[in-house]
Amino acid sequence: MIMSYCLACIILLIFLPVTYSAAADCPFVPQTVLHSGKIANILFESDSKKCTDSIPHGPLETCSHEVADITFGPDVTIPNGTNVMPYIDLNVNVIGHEFISDIFVQLECLYAPNKENSYCHNHTTPILKWGKNYWPCRHHKILSNPNEVKLPIIYEHACFRMHGLSHYQMHITFVPQNCRLQYTVTLPHDFQLEPTIALHYKNDSSWKTGWSPMLTLDPNDKEFVRMHVTSNPSDNKTHITMAVYQKFKDGTKLIFDDVVAPPDKSIKFHASAGDYHAFAYVKHQECRLICNKQDLEIQTCEICNHTYLNFTLSENHLSGAQSLWKIFTTIMTYLMYLILSKLMT
Ligand SMILES: *[C@@H]1O[C@H](CO)[C@@H](O)[C@H](O)[C@H]1NC(C)=O
Ligand SMILES: *[C@@H]1O[C@H](CO)[C@@H](O)[C@H](O)[C@H]1NC(C)=O
Ligand SMILES: *[C@@H]1O[C@H](CO)[C@@H](O)[C@H](O)[C@H]1NC(C)=O
Ligand SMILES: *[C@@H]1O[C@H](CO)[C@@H](O)[C@H](O)[C@H]1NC(C)=O
Ligand SMILES: *[C@@H]1O[C@H](CO)[C@@H](O)[C@H](O)[C@H]1NC(C)=O
Ligand SMILES: *[C@@H]1O[C@H](CO)[C@@H](O)[C@H](O)[C@H]1NC(C)=O
Repeated sequence: MIMSYCLACIILLIFLPVTYSAAADCPFVPQTVLHSGKIANILFESDSKKCTDSIPHGPLETCSHEVADITFGPDVTIPNGTNVMPYIDLNVNVIGHEFISDIFVQLECLYAPNKENSYCHNHTTPILKWGKNYWPCRHHKILSNPNEVKLPIIYEHACFRMHGLSHYQMHITFVPQNCRLQYTVTLPHDFQLEPTIALHYKNDSSWKTGWSPMLTLDPNDKEFVRMHVTSNPSDNKTHITMAVYQKFKDGTKLIFDDVVAPPDKSIKFHASAGDYHAFAYVKHQECRLICNKQDLEIQTCEICNHTYLNFTLSENHLSGAQSLWKIFTTIMTYLMYLILSKLMT
């Protein structure tokens, strides 16, 4: 009896660290091919310091949309062992429509309510290793002769651990284009995003999870702001309601709302520089995005489960006509001010 317990201890001691490290260093599978049909020769660097140090210095332009399509989604692992919790990695997918010799993918944590989120709250490991914090970074370098490489360039990797309700800034840099794309990614509670995780915690398939999507902000276009949602893994017909509010000193104003119906996965809207709140949720009869306090208390109003993103636009994202109108109104205001001040004196 004691023997078998000890055997179990030894097995646990041997296998537990393996389980953890297997989750920590995720293998990369090259997918870009040559005209010959062979897989291209790829150097994949997962050392965050080496990767970060290789990113071109100096100000980088924003890439045009023709260079590549980039999507983010959840990659869920439900471990078989009982001592490892289910987790979600961020799947980063880059489809390059022209030759990209180097792709750099960097994750920066912006906000995390969960103290266990070590990307955000515990930089002990990178500091011990390199003397300072380096954000997680991956470098995909094509060593094959560019003439032999068949388009598209494909980068797909699910490596960065995601924590519910956190906000992450993703920096994607391309060489030789020397340009960069930036995105903000967030997710709801992990059990809310993935029905299989909810099932893992509550062994009852009838349990309703109140699903809501992973949400990505794409501010890379000068004329629009785009937002992308992921689809419901248990029902690919789910419609998602999106609402975007602009923050002002004296409150907030709804500037955009729409419903994303499959197969669509994104919305785009014009917005001026400022601070915003965005919500993505599945609307049903019994719930609302906003309830007043009394109705909440007497339970006549229930708040829909949602995904929340908080963001700031440092520049206007307006159409040419809107920009001209903005300049026109600014000039008119200034002229009025001049005339008024002349009249007053
Ligand atoms: C769990 O076990 C099943 C069957 O043994 C296997 O197919 C699956 O890959 C395992 N999953 C993990 C995360 O190890
Ligand atoms: C931070 O991470 C290190 C290494 O993983 C660990 O030893 C330490 O306890 C962590 N600190 C906190 C405050 O969680
Ligand atoms: C989950 O529930 C089913 C039937 O209700 C049962 O057969 C199964 O053993 C349960 N699994 C776990 C991990 O509790
Ligand atoms: C929100 O999700 C929970 C489960 O996470 C569910 O019990 C509840 O009914 C959902 N609420 C609404 C309004 O859908
Ligand atoms: C939705 O799911 C059903 C069943 O899983 C499948 O037959 C159908 O092709 C899917 N539709 C789309 C648009 O993915
Ligand atoms: C929202 O953004 C403000 C700054 O604009 C920040 O202080 C706050 O913590 C953010 N909240 C969340 C939930 O991200």
